[in-house]
Amino acid sequence: MCGIVGYMGKKDAFPVLINGLKRLEYRGYDSSGIALYNGDLEIYKCKGKVQELENLTGGKIKSAKLGIGHTRWATHGEPNDVNAHPHISNNGDLVIVHNGIIENCDSLKQFLLDRNYTFKSDTDTEILINFIEYVQKEEKVTLDQAVRLALREVVGAYAIAVISKKEPDFMVSARLGSPLVLGLGSGEFFIGSDATPFIDLTKKVIYLEDGEMAIISTTGVSIRTIESDQPVDAVIHRLKMDLDSIEKGGYDHFMLKEIFEQPTSILNTIRGRLFENNAQIRMAGLDAISDKLEKANRILIIGCGTSWHAGLVGEYIIEDLSRIPVEVEYASEFRYRNPIIKSDDIVIAISQSGETADTLAAIKMAKAAGACVFGICNVVGSSIARESSAGAFTHAGPEIGVASTKAFTAQVTVLTMIALYLGRSNDNLSKSRFKEIAKEIKLIPKKIESMLELDDKVQSIAKLLNKSNNALFLGRGFNFPVALEGALKLKEISYIHAEGYPAAEMKHGPIALIDDNMPVIIVAPRGGMYEKIVSNIQEVKARKGAVISVTSYGESEVKALSDAVIEIPETLDCLTPLLTTIPLQLLSYHVAVQRECNVDQPRNLAKSVTVE
Ligand code: F6R
Repeated sequence: MCGIVGYMGKKDAFPVLINGLKRLEYRGYDSSGIALYNGDLEIYKCKGKVQELENLTGGKIKSAKLGIGHTRWATHGEPNDVNAHPHISNNGDLVIVHNGIIENCDSLKQFLLDRNYTFKSDTDTEILINFIEYVQKEEKVTLDQAVRLALREVVGAYAIAVISKKEPDFMVSARLGSPLVLGLGSGEFFIGSDATPFIDLTKKVIYLEDGEMAIISTTGVSIRTIESDQPVDAVIHRLKMDLDSIEKGGYDHFMLKEIFEQPTSILNTIRGRLFENNAQIRMAGLDAISDKLEKANRILIIGCGTSWHAGLVGEYIIEDLSRIPVEVEYASEFRYRNPIIKSDDIVIAISQSGETADTLAAIKMAKAAGACVFGICNVVGSSIARESSAGAFTHAGPEIGVASTKAFTAQVTVLTMIALYLGRSNDNLSKSRFKEIAKEIKLIPKKIESMLELDDKVQSIAKLLNKSNNALFLGRGFNFPVALEGALKLKEISYIHAEGYPAAEMKHGPIALIDDNMPVIIVAPRGGMYEKIVSNIQEVKARKGAVISVTSYGESEVKALSDAVIEIPETLDCLTPLLTTIPLQLLSYHVAVQRECNVDQPRNLAKSVTVE
């Protein structure tokens, strides 16, 4: 949520910042702004997309070597020009951009009001910058010290960047609970909520840790702790990401590009990890905790949204192959409900962004209770990846579209490999069954490729849905979570109300909704549950519901009952989610495009949910 950028160096800051903001727009896109120092502070900000900011600034910008920028996902105060960041302090000297929430902003505001400070916006950020101004005035300290002392009084989460008209040789930035990455160029420095804003300009980065601040000057960066002002020996990392991976590459939308990347992303997920011939999974993260895995009596999987759905698929597969009991929970519930966590529990935390606030907090809680936390993340260097005791990256590549697609299939693939590893470790999975599954996983990318050829067909099926107000997604067994995921995808990008259900639950309530206005999307591949789900389709047809089904090639029974059919290639029952998910992603995509919705940046959403 919210993206922040900063630049100090020899280049013209404006293009660096505006390009950076465009790349961060997936984090929040209700308003944006920029502050530049060119002898004086110049601030431009407005409601709407970064393009609108660029239009607003058109031609007026003087050259500047220092600046900060922000793209917003509103927390305090509605999205409008005034609430957009950057915010300036009362004396006009300091400007700030901020991602996060200042929880004690009301008391800080009262404190400042009592001292005659005034506020133009409804934001917590404007309170913070004025508090920094107040501290600087009272304590007569430099900018970095003022920021540090002020932050010590702050309760909440933040990643900030601050510049001052009076000390233009510095840019100060700090983090607690919200991500911040520094880019180190030659004689130039970058700040970003992630590394995408400056990926084409430097590959050398430092990930700021919680409770740290960076004091950036033209000659270098000094990292210190906020609490005790101690120097920190920061590690410089080298990024492997490239610019192509975060651009649309000829597709109309990032979401479509990411759907089409799945044959490759799954290959990347399994590369060097899945060894069919000797029935082995090689994952350094699993090996690192092998003693704990051996003793594990239970696995708890936590995550949010799509990652939680991947966790549900994981539950079915891990229990099936390893017979270790698995519980799956929303991280947001887990962290607040006093759950039972034992020291021999393995907690698997799943997060594409690696920054989801609830998942991060749940991990900290599980670790404090003595559990071993295994993180499954897509973003290298993210907070969750660093906070986990061990883990595995999904290697799906950057996911920019807000609706998660390739991250989901990569997460399911990692979970399947974990299930194989555990099944072999505790002897619940025979070598021959391992080999059968491993062989089939390797075929999945090619099978997805063949399904992507159905794109035109799915596009025309989408017309059956695009005028609906509601839709029901049904699935059973391994494909129950796929039904949930299909419904989530449709609602988040097309704004059609959709619900996912285990098909057999339909008659316990949702069947009351079925009439000829209720499209029902049924995930019914050949496999253990096939016969049962055919009966469920008959129940829908008997009530005149329009049925769109996703089934295996040649399943004439389902075909005969359906208004539209999307066929998937044959695979093992436990791997069907990797195939059935694909047409549902395409279906949501086309319905959203046909309804003229903003596919990559759906309303009210943000890619990285760094507030609880
Ligand atoms: C849905 C979606 C969200 C995320 C959720 C968790 O398409 O993108 O539901 O899955 O916010 O995000 P991560 O996986 O980054 O923790």
